Amino acid sequence: MADTTPTFSPGIFEVDLIFPRNETYAPHTLLPVVFALQNPPLAFPVAAWISWSLWEGNNLTSPGSITDGVIELALLNLTSTEPLLVTRFIDTIPYPNGFWTFEWSLQMDMCSAGYGPGQFIDTNSTTVFTISQSGQAPDLVAATSSDKCGTMKAYAYNITAEGESCGYFGPSPTTNPCAVTVNAAAASSVMAAGTALACDPLESSIYPNVTCPPVSVSSSNVAGQYHMAAAPTLLTLLAVVSGLIHLG
Ligand SMILES: *[C@@H]1O[C@H](CO)[C@@H](O)[C@H](O)[C@H]1NC(C)=O
Ligand SMILES: *[C@@H]1O[C@H](CO)[C@@H](O)[C@H](O)[C@H]1NC(C)=O
Ligand SMILES: *[C@@H]1O[C@H](CO)[C@@H](O)[C@H](O)[C@H]1NC(C)=O
Ligand SMILES: *[C@@H]1O[C@H](CO)[C@@H](O)[C@H](O)[C@H]1NC(C)=O
Ligand SMILES: *[C@@H]1O[C@H](CO)[C@@H](O)[C@H](O)[C@H]1NC(C)=O
Ligand SMILES: *[C@@H]1O[C@H](CO)[C@@H](O)[C@H](O)[C@H]1NC(C)=O
Repeated sequence: MADTTPTFSPGIFEVDLIFPRNETYAPHTLLPVVFALQNPPLAFPVAAWISWSLWEGNNLTSPGSITDGVIELALLNLTSTEPLLVTRFIDTIPYPNGFWTFEWSLQMDMCSAGYGPGQFIDTNSTTVFTISQSGQAPDLVAATSSDKCGTMKAYAYNITAEGESCGYFGPSPTTNPCAVTVNAAAASSVMAAGTALACDPLESSIYPNVTCPPVSVSSSNVAGQYHMAAAPTLLTLLAVVSGLIHLG
């Protein structure tokens, strides 16, 4: 195993929610949840993680609700500064038509007085989407197109130095969600990785309605992170590497 502990270099760390958005989706066996990390190595010094939940309308205990989604960003392979897509997949086939609330929170440790973590940053954002038989299929290319990228929920931080398990933050810079673009090849790779995950024997009970290829290669190294080239109009999928999946 290569060392995946990134070396510290100050810069702007940004997290963008690419999917879902304030849109209407048809029920899908693998509705993707996709976050983009810009300058991913900076997730490490601040011990960044995302918690997320999903419920129907205003009912946190509705059937199909997920209340304990966790993505430990700091544990991912953060060696590359190229934008990184972090994904989870939700089977929305059994979901009734209606409004669904996706809430997520990015948490990071901030140093105080030069010693360990003191405060922590906790964003708290909700996106409401609609499930309807007449809705659209998930389209990650459209979600990052020039006319839609500006509506992503985005958080950017100027991390100027690292402390003991925490980071020093400068004034928050403006966000730049349009710097991440998912092209057709990257989008189909994300969905193919979702299928491979769902067809893993360990996961297949969670995704009973995904059609699996007859001969499945070992998907134990398929997980929710993708390194992508930085060029805004040409993102190339460089690698699908092992990571931690917490299907909550
Ligand atoms: C981490 O990512 C880099 C660049 O994407 C890759 O070359 C390396 O093999 C990965 N390391 C591990 C342990 O997955
Ligand atoms: C969601 O989209 C609908 C329809 O386009 C729009 O009326 C509404 O204002 C949007 N809500 C938010 C929070 O952006
Ligand atoms: C929320 O969903 C649960 C499970 O179906 C149901 O028992 C409860 O009555 C619902 N609560 C509201 C406020 O609709
Ligand atoms: C699987 O598909 C059947 C038939 O459409 C549906 O009744 C069931 O709810 C689905 N289950 C899941 C977990 O998607
Ligand atoms: C986000 O804010 C809502 C409303 O203030 C609150 O109920 C919820 O617990 C918060 N979630 C997190 C993860 O902080
Ligand atoms: C980030 O902070 C550094 C150090 O204070 C500063 O030089 C730089 O201009 C800041 N960058 C942005 C984009 O605000």
